[in-house]
Amino acid sequence: MSLARAALLRASRSAWLAEQFRDREFARRAVRRFMPGENVGAAIGAAASLAASGLGSVLTALGERVNTRADAEAVRTHYLEVLDFIHAQGLPTHLSVKLTHLGLDVDPAFCAESVEALVERSAASGTMLWIDMEESHYVDATLGIYHRVQAKHSRVGVCLQAYLRRTPADLDSVLATGGSVRLVKGAYREAEAVAFGRKAETDNAYLTLANRMLRAATRDRVQVLGTHDLALVNHLRRHAVTAAIPDDAWEVHMLYGIRAREQRALAANGVTVRVLISYGTHWFPWYVRRLAERPANMWFLLRSLVGS
Ligand code: FDA
Repeated sequence: MSLARAALLRASRSAWLAEQFRDREFARRAVRRFMPGENVGAAIGAAASLAASGLGSVLTALGERVNTRADAEAVRTHYLEVLDFIHAQGLPTHLSVKLTHLGLDVDPAFCAESVEALVERSAASGTMLWIDMEESHYVDATLGIYHRVQAKHSRVGVCLQAYLRRTPADLDSVLATGGSVRLVKGAYREAEAVAFGRKAETDNAYLTLANRMLRAATRDRVQVLGTHDLALVNHLRRHAVTAAIPDDAWEVHMLYGIRAREQRALAANGVTVRVLISYGTHWFPWYVRRLAERPANMWFLLRSLVGS
């Protein structure tokens, strides 16, 4: 891992830095490159525009590691309301949630109930609930809740991270139960004992894991490539065509504001593309992870500072 990436990922955990940046106009301007706005209305507006251009979307409210039951309840209520609104508008929009935002650290049983309630509401509106994957020490608890809910409801998928050494076994366990995976490279700072240190190792692992996912993909168990790595996507797409995997059995998900032109080009070529749209005021750790993925993004922040 580069020094810049390691330093940024360490900074992403600083409550003090989050406090310093939260109300600074230059930072909020820079963040808008990756999110249409802080409120849910802006996110839904962006989802509607994407739908008009043939792109699906996934919404996520920013926030993680809540430490009171009341906060976790508020997040659950918010998401239930968002699902009702999406349903009423008929938008092709899914939700993606972080379990620590739904109270995993406070009350795991309540968190599991909330996931179940959200999956039931998603299924009623024909959409899918995606579970994000956070730091490696949350993987067991996250997969535990995922498997418990997936045993009863099919419209739930879970994110797995290619950089973790354990992921091949986790992928086996999810695919064995007929589950859906959103495969990403991994965005957190992890020890070499649990995660690959070199990007090339993660990229190789991604390719191997994704090939296995595609072989398991069907219309009822959609598999998702969550990446902006077009070389990987194009390679896997050729594999899907050769193996006669139906177009609607796999999807590409990318983040709002990253490679927008390529998102539209893929969709125009028949690939199902969904754009993950984040919103909310707790953007600091999430935004710094985006900087860490591509430290050159720091220039946008600095330019925003100079222009303020
Ligand atoms: P890679 O880093 O190799 O980037 C490929 C190319 O994409 C770069 O060369 C650049 O052009 C562009 N790019 C990538 N990141 C960029 C950025 N921040 N700014 C500008 N350009 C960029 N992680 C996690 O640990 N848990 C999770 O639940 C999720 N969820 C998730 C959902 C979705 C839909 C996506 C797309 C990603 C995630 N991630 C995630 C983040 C993921 O782990 C990873 O950090 C980023 O996607 C960056 O890796 P890429 O696969 O894009 O490849």
